[in-house]
Amino acid sequence: MIASAPGKIILFGEHSVVYGRHAVVSAINLRCRVKVRKSSSFKIKSVLGESNLDFDRHPYVVQAVRRFLEVKNIPGAEIEIESEIPIGSGLGSSGAVIVATLAALNAEFKGGMDKEDIFQMAKQVEIDVQGRASGIDPFISTFGGSWLFPERKKVSMPFKFFVINFGSRSTAEMVKKVAELRERHPEVMEKIFDSIDAVSLEAAEIKSEDRLEELIAINQSLLRAIGVSNPEIDETIAELERKGLKAKITGAGGGGCIFGLYKGEKPEGSFVVEPEKEGVRVEE
Ligand code: PMV
Repeated sequence: MIASAPGKIILFGEHSVVYGRHAVVSAINLRCRVKVRKSSSFKIKSVLGESNLDFDRHPYVVQAVRRFLEVKNIPGAEIEIESEIPIGSGLGSSGAVIVATLAALNAEFKGGMDKEDIFQMAKQVEIDVQGRASGIDPFISTFGGSWLFPERKKVSMPFKFFVINFGSRSTAEMVKKVAELRERHPEVMEKIFDSIDAVSLEAAEIKSEDRLEELIAINQSLLRAIGVSNPEIDETIAELERKGLKAKITGAGGGGCIFGLYKGEKPEGSFVVEPEKEGVRVEE
């Protein structure tokens, strides 16, 4: 069986969502496909290499298998992963691979799990591997669409986005950096988080490109204020602004990806993504 699940893009509200504020997140039309075949032992194949249940090489897939084994005892499986989602850049590659792996195992071995069960198990896998996680990525990869968090309200997002990838970075490190700045300047930081919250709430209602671009620019300035931009990103965003385009970090920052509204012109080094309605699906 083959199952696929989409990646995600945080449009507004990263970091402040960690402190209880709102975020707007969309599934995107880049998918991770996982093929599972019955076998007498476990074999996992991906761009990260070939292994058995080797946690160090394939942590998310191995942990997904371990959790699946708690609902269905199977002797083995051949698991092949192909992903269009860049790894470790904030576009939800790990959430998508967990969800697609669980859905493919469930379909191949008749695990009897519905989408909600897959999401709950995927969220647990993410916590197992990362220690702490909001569960937004597995939620988006399972259900697709565009959402306002934490209340899980569906939002309309009729836009396409250009994305520029600055390479992988550690989300945990960036979250720690923000926490430290918040410890030194709690009053200031809380007010910035409130401003980002207002941006997310307004963005969730917006239908016009111009207004959304204004919010992209405001949110980026606030992300810069909390210390998660870097000179390379600032320079690229300034360069885009000179060409009349707005862009912001998506995800943890300090590298990773930036995005802006795609209006028919693709900036150099970018690729285009669009919101994806469909979450996880079994393909055959
Ligand atoms: O690195 P990403 O795209 O998964 O984004 C992390 C988003 C943060 O708000 C920085 C952290 C979090 O857990 O919400």
